[in-house]
Amino acid sequence: MTNILCIGAGYVGGPTMAVIAKHCPQHKITVIDINPERIAAWNSDQLPIYEPGLKEVVDIARGRNLFFTATDIDEHINQAEIIFVSVNTPTKTFGQGAGRAADLQFWEKTARQILRNSTTPKIIIEKSTLPVRTAEAMSQILNTNPNGLHFDVLSNPEFLAEGSAIHDLENPDRVLIGGHNTPSGQAAVQTIVDLYANWVPRERIITTNLWSSELSKLVANAFLAQRISSINAISALCEKTGADVEEVAYAIGTDTRIGPRFLKASVGFGGSCFKKDILNLVYLCEMQGLTEVAAYWEQVLKMNEYQEARFVANMVHAMFNTLAGKRIALFGAAFKANTSDTRESPALIVCRELLDEHADVVLCDPYALENARTDLGAQSSRVTFELDPYQAAKGAHAIAILTEWADFAALDYQRIFDAMAHPAFIFDGRNILNHQALFEMGFNVYAVGKEPRVKFNAISS
Ligand code: NAD
Ligand code: UGA
Repeated sequence: MTNILCIGAGYVGGPTMAVIAKHCPQHKITVIDINPERIAAWNSDQLPIYEPGLKEVVDIARGRNLFFTATDIDEHINQAEIIFVSVNTPTKTFGQGAGRAADLQFWEKTARQILRNSTTPKIIIEKSTLPVRTAEAMSQILNTNPNGLHFDVLSNPEFLAEGSAIHDLENPDRVLIGGHNTPSGQAAVQTIVDLYANWVPRERIITTNLWSSELSKLVANAFLAQRISSINAISALCEKTGADVEEVAYAIGTDTRIGPRFLKASVGFGGSCFKKDILNLVYLCEMQGLTEVAAYWEQVLKMNEYQEARFVANMVHAMFNTLAGKRIALFGAAFKANTSDTRESPALIVCRELLDEHADVVLCDPYALENARTDLGAQSSRVTFELDPYQAAKGAHAIAILTEWADFAALDYQRIFDAMAHPAFIFDGRNILNHQALFEMGFNVYAVGKEPRVKFNAISS
């Protein structure tokens, strides 16, 4: 039995280790975290994150070969042969590179903690998303120890998406493992290849050098976000020209060179990683003097901010240029469906902007209200949190769909319309509703990348 440790029990550490434990009963997997409440939740029936299928996987392995603990951390580090480091790597908020570079303080503290508590050699795996050449720093810190202990540092970035994490971990498009081209580096790579080969077909396990692996993770997220910003840019043009962005996306996506995925126009992309990782890429380019390359990728973020701002501007304009005192129901707080995560959620950005307009905001989401309340901080006292969409919409002047939860598409909109203030507006930021049917019911319908279906024209600003 190999002792495998994961430092960081978050959205990546928890689900990833649960799936490894499920498929590798011959190994003991321990997950530690500095946050004891998170660990307590992992050990309870109320897991700290909502993720379809996660509970079932945890139930299979927890207590068998999967353990979550916040105690005896030093001893667990010492006993481990393989350590996955899956701590958070947020954008730096201070000093050089503030607002762009990755804040590596949690990362470096972890490296020193591993060193302090190790009496045997180990394989250390970067699971967190990190700037290129971070493994070099990690390797230097670890391998300059006075005891002559050897540590192999590998990069094994995670590509799971929230909401489909278990599916992605069970059936990954690929697993990427980067290591040094030395005998010990390659032996370490082989150990991790063998670990994944317990359930991932060998041809889907890609091995590269360390720097390619680190960079590929940032580039994958940048490309995905770039596709969303590209289609969102076109959605603005569609709204002006009478073209329909879903028809355009379908027409171009059927070209096999382009492909259909990540072409869904929306109120904007959110989540903890796209923005952070692109900022990180932009900073890396700037540090290398690649000003034009940095500006190219930064535009992906600017387009996203434009899309979010445009959505709110459309609401204000459509509703006679004033939202003050109007009840507005926001359907969705999570940054995407099937997760409780609200980090960088466009829903909360829209929510804050509507509060600035003095609207009376009601936030409705099946799983993310608690996180939303925390994220909104002091502003949460000005928001009504409501689980029931029918209650949220009662007396509202408008509804905005901000998260593509399937439940929102299945509601009885006639019942909702009848209970709203009139004229009733609906703004579909995810294009999940039947716009023609809503229009026929009496709604004024505004959908991303589509010509508005309205009973009368808004007054010009
Ligand atoms: P998270 O904030 O949910 O979890 C990180 C955890 O690490 C927290 O629980 C924190 O308490 C813990 N931690 C921090 N320092 C620690 C220390 N010294 N010892 C023990 N625990 C410590 O973050 P996340 O979403 O899981 O992301 C982790 C990394 O994975 C990031 O680099 C992120 O970019 C990357 N990533 C995230 C996703 C995703 O979908 N969330 C997907 C792929 C990659
Ligand atoms: C993303 C990547 O998809 C993962 O591969 C990666 O591992 C992860 O980031 C990470 O590094 O954290 P995630 O942010 O969980 O995963 O979710 P996505 O499905 O990528 O969605 C991100 C945002 O883009 C969401 O707000 C979603 O609603 C939006 N989106 C996505 C669109 O607006 N249109 C689309 O076509 C697709």
